Amino acid sequence: MPAPKGRQKRFTRWPQRVEVMKRYMKGAFYEMGKKGQLTSAHNLGHVQRVSLYAREYVRLMGGSKKKQVLANIAGLTHDRFRDADDSMAQRAKGIRTHEEGSAEFMRSLFEKRYGKKSVARIHEAMARHGSLPELKDVGKNLVRDAVVFADKFFEANGAYIGFRRAMFMGERADLRKKAVEKGYDLSNPADRQKAAIDFTLSESKKRIAAFSDLSKIPEHLHPFLRYQVAWQERLVEGLEKNNAGIVHLATELYSEGLKANPRDLGEVIKAYKPIAESDAAFKQEALDYLNGKLVEKFRQLVKRPAS
Ligand SMILES: [Fe+2]
Ligand SMILES: [Fe+2]
Repeated sequence: MPAPKGRQKRFTRWPQRVEVMKRYMKGAFYEMGKKGQLTSAHNLGHVQRVSLYAREYVRLMGGSKKKQVLANIAGLTHDRFRDADDSMAQRAKGIRTHEEGSAEFMRSLFEKRYGKKSVARIHEAMARHGSLPELKDVGKNLVRDAVVFADKFFEANGAYIGFRRAMFMGERADLRKKAVEKGYDLSNPADRQKAAIDFTLSESKKRIAAFSDLSKIPEHLHPFLRYQVAWQERLVEGLEKNNAGIVHLATELYSEGLKANPRDLGEVIKAYKPIAESDAAFKQEALDYLNGKLVEKFRQLVKRPAS
């Protein structure tokens, strides 16, 4: 077969670059894991899924193969460093977030390997993945849109978040302190259940509110986002009404997060034993998501806007 020429030749390198980056992140996260710097919400599985769904977004929007690959790379690296703090609060206080930190750290590595335009696209996607692009900016950098939407609409909404959030509530150092201040004795199962409901509920309400103003979200994503947020609303309703399955889910996952060495979230979900139809439905949907099957739903619900 003759060697590919010109543009095509240049493109053939990009898929290999994704492989290189996958290996790099695997190694980097392995090291961070050993030092206890990863959490259930932010680990290799998280960046791999953001990468997968970000690429799908670019594809659905009709973006070039190269942009699809850039979304892959930006998705993989967007949380190169992630502390277990609340980044919403950090932003409000003007503290440098993990978004900018990760983007800056990776910049020189990218500059040595990729062209200027590609670096700029990836850098913006990483540095600004913490907040949704303004409507007028949607489409300007498809790679950024893709990472943000994959991070927020897939990972931070839907059934999976029910598991992820409850566990993260147990892991967060600030919330452990708060639990003590609120008088919860976390070694007591009844108190642990109360704390799991309390924190998961308040965090969920905050997050739902952040996604309830559809006027700030591009119209072509409304049906998909509604679908995803509906799972969060089921979670909130279940906790408020003391639904046995949902309370069980939140308590089990919160308790896992409290452990000194929590298991991998994907493993925990797989091993989770539902006690009712409500939590069984969450488990099935979360497994579909983890297995990349939500791409199908995404394709059905997201229509590329007419330009
Ligand atoms: Fe992040
Ligand atoms: Fe992320």
